[in-house]
Amino acid sequence: MSEQTALLDRYGLIGYPVAHSKSPIIHRLFADQTDQSMTYELFAAKPDDLESTVRSFQRNGGRGLNITVPHKANVTRLVDEMSEEASIAGAVNTLVITPEKIVGHNTDGVGLIRDVQVNWKYALEGKRILILGAGGATQGVLGPLLEEQPEVLVIANRTVAKAQALADHFGMLGNVEAKRFGDIKSMPAFDLVINATSAGLKGEQAPFPPQAIEIGRTACYDMSYGLGETPFNHWARAMDAIKVRSGWGMLIEQAAESFRLWRNVDPDTAKVLKQLPTEN
Ligand code: ATR
Repeated sequence: MSEQTALLDRYGLIGYPVAHSKSPIIHRLFADQTDQSMTYELFAAKPDDLESTVRSFQRNGGRGLNITVPHKANVTRLVDEMSEEASIAGAVNTLVITPEKIVGHNTDGVGLIRDVQVNWKYALEGKRILILGAGGATQGVLGPLLEEQPEVLVIANRTVAKAQALADHFGMLGNVEAKRFGDIKSMPAFDLVINATSAGLKGEQAPFPPQAIEIGRTACYDMSYGLGETPFNHWARAMDAIKVRSGWGMLIEQAAESFRLWRNVDPDTAKVLKQLPTEN
């Protein structure tokens, strides 16, 4: 480490894999905008190396970490305190670190809600919402989605038991139902369909349910993103969804919320969305 780098506050991302992460670019753009002296490093750590990587970062003066796949649930065991959002989600994507303690937060839900309601100008209150998938991505956002008081939030998953476990866990926060993809056929259409599966990304036929969409009514949001249009968004456009958005905005908003927790300053997310090479 050069003498100059040693003076900068250190942040980073732990995951496996992390090599293609956009977080270093996003945090560099935030730091430049707001004149923050900081570095942001990538740490590729397998599950067995998670604890030693976090502890060594803390010992060496690190101030904060983002946590991504596959560590978001496991890292909860290492933290001294958790925010309410992280406790409800049972998952952490941001650590605020001091020499004495590590506090776990979850900014994924806030990131989604801000991108949908503020940037995309889509109000969630009173809406019929379908979320496809019941993995970690869904788990991280269900609490904040239910807080916006949709009429109903239906979780559909290939493995229905996983959707049911989430519906049981989050049921006290609102009206949540678990379904199979096939059950959607016999249900009324939805106002908003959110994709939180990885289906279609490997080129396989994805089981997105056409009956969920009503022309002129249904909006579609994909929590994943890519350089081209995502398979879900391609399908949604072909189905005549009224509006379609990918997860780039959510990615930037969750990063912005981590940045606020670490630096107590507010970056301009709209500017960063324009600076990133997305399909937008
Ligand atoms: P993440 O943490 O990103 O949510 P995950 O936990 O691996 O990742 O979850 C991936 C989600 O995509 C799951 O809901 C998975 O369905 P299962 O729970 O049945 O495995 C869903 N998924 C992945 N590939 C799929 C496919 N080809 N068809 C339907 N669902 C799929």
